[in-house]
Amino acid sequence: MSATFEFAGEPIEARQGQTIAGALLAAGRVSWRTAAGAERGVFCGIGVCHDCVVTVNGASGVRACLRTASDGDVVLPEER
Ligand code: FES
Repeated sequence: MSATFEFAGEPIEARQGQTIAGALLAAGRVSWRTAAGAERGVFCGIGVCHDCVVTVNGASGVRACLRTASDGDVVLPEER
């Protein structure tokens, strides 16, 4: 079973249980936000650094490396 979520208007496929970060990486994206002009994506991959934060269904500050992708999620990049 898989899930499809939207990232910045683009559909992204995720395998069952896959995190948003994992699905974005699998889709070829290595960065999805900017901080002080620098691109950020996964750094620690274990929920510590907050480099991977995204907005999910209107909730900001969600760590993409911890959040399992769900069908229909709307994910947006953040700048901070
Ligand atoms: S990559 Fe560090 S918190 Fe997600």
